[in-house]
Amino acid sequence: MSPTLEKFVDRLPIMKVLQPNHRTKNGPYYEVRMEEFRQKLHRDLPPTRLWGYNRQFPGPTFEVKQDEPIRVRWTNHLPNRHILPIDGSVHNVANEPQVRTVVHLHGSETKPDSDGYPEAWFTNGFKETGPSFSREVYEYPNHQRATTLWYHDHAMGITRLNVYAGLAGMYIIRNEHEKALHLPSGKYEIPLLIQDRSFNQDGSLAYPRQPDDAAANLPNPSIVPAFNGDTILANGKVWPYLEVEPRKYRFRVLNGSNTRSYQLMLDSGQPFYQIGSDGGLLKNTVKIEQIGVEPAERVDVIVDFSKLKGKTVVMKNNLGANADPDDPTGDIMQFRVTKPLSRKDTSKIPRHLSRIPSLKQNNITAIRQLKLVGSTDEYDRPLLLLDNKKWHDPVTEKPELGTTEIWSLVNVTNFTHPIHIHLVQFQVLDRRPFDLERYNQDGKIDYTGTATAPAPNERGWKDTIAAPSAQITRVIAKFAPYTGDYVWHCHILEHEDYDMMRPFTVIDPDE
Ligand code: C2O
Ligand code: CU
Ligand code: CU
Repeated sequence: MSPTLEKFVDRLPIMKVLQPNHRTKNGPYYEVRMEEFRQKLHRDLPPTRLWGYNRQFPGPTFEVKQDEPIRVRWTNHLPNRHILPIDGSVHNVANEPQVRTVVHLHGSETKPDSDGYPEAWFTNGFKETGPSFSREVYEYPNHQRATTLWYHDHAMGITRLNVYAGLAGMYIIRNEHEKALHLPSGKYEIPLLIQDRSFNQDGSLAYPRQPDDAAANLPNPSIVPAFNGDTILANGKVWPYLEVEPRKYRFRVLNGSNTRSYQLMLDSGQPFYQIGSDGGLLKNTVKIEQIGVEPAERVDVIVDFSKLKGKTVVMKNNLGANADPDDPTGDIMQFRVTKPLSRKDTSKIPRHLSRIPSLKQNNITAIRQLKLVGSTDEYDRPLLLLDNKKWHDPVTEKPELGTTEIWSLVNVTNFTHPIHIHLVQFQVLDRRPFDLERYNQDGKIDYTGTATAPAPNERGWKDTIAAPSAQITRVIAKFAPYTGDYVWHCHILEHEDYDMMRPFTVIDPDE
């Protein structure tokens, strides 16, 4: 358990915007270094040893223009021993160098060799590389809608540890259409990267070596099936506060936690005006009091503080009616409406935001039934799988380039899994409940209700979607514009690492 830490004593940091090393005729070029460093995460904690991009936690924010490609050379300058407990029994990790990294730009439409394939890892100085490694410099086309993406480590079998150590940051794509909407901008537009962590007394990150009730035969270290930290950080500070003016603010919220999902709400009873989801602006603004955010999901919201001069507002994580009211993770951060209004607030909350063409009009080439299933491994540990297959099983999902498919995610486990597909932004079709008890007896799907349309704030572009227990969640995606090897997985990092991740290949039928 973390030492007791007073809430709302540190100011919310804002990540620095990354500047390109130079500009070429091919666009901006960046070099980003992964290093070990120490940073103070709370007033009363000694500095924490972290791994981060350019010695920052979270990493610096990329600001790019739609359709202006950039190149990034990600380099690893980390020590060769990991700071967190590695379980060598998953994915043969024991035979690989301990400290391996590969960067994935989550939500981006990127060629496979720049997508951060889990086996395209590399070590310090590129001395050793994984079997899929092919290049040092990654290219991001930014040929997609303006939105909030994020970059994070994706190395095979240790993603949960690398991200927990600090390897994550935000990436914003901007365009003219969005600018013309007069949303709150400049210092009134704030990225909020929310994560949970636990700490030891000395300020170091705490992460379990083994599950709590570990049987004697388990490997040591042994992967845990879930991790929930006991403190909440925003932009790298534990329970920070932000002084705001009585006006509208835009927050680009990202859940960058390993396992924890959040139910965001404001204790002032005010609504959020949600304007965007993972893949960009929604069609219309959605007024919403509580927003569920699964790991890796982004929600773009406007909060209006204009009538709250002198008040404080806490952004809460609603833990539900049965939760312990003293659970500190029910708070995220605090807003203090103490700053004077610097100038008139002319920003807008537009009713209509963007056009979203429905993929349902497309010709559907394949409908895939994909089960999210639980089983156990040789040590009797939970082993969560996609369609009963492990990472190393042969590729079974091979969409053809340019075709549209429906993926039916049949969740026969007891909890929600946030499912993420690389390369594409998809749309949610519906969710339909079925009788899980019956399924567990005879393997039959017996529907217990009709299919329901996604919530209004899920009706935009998504790359990660909550697939709840005992429901079939259907998503529709067009597999373009690149061919090659990608992955899809549960974004609970403890699940992704073992073994809820699968390759998929976009194939060109004419080749
Ligand atoms: Cu955010 Cu495959 O990852
Ligand atoms: Cu991704
Ligand atoms: Cu999962």
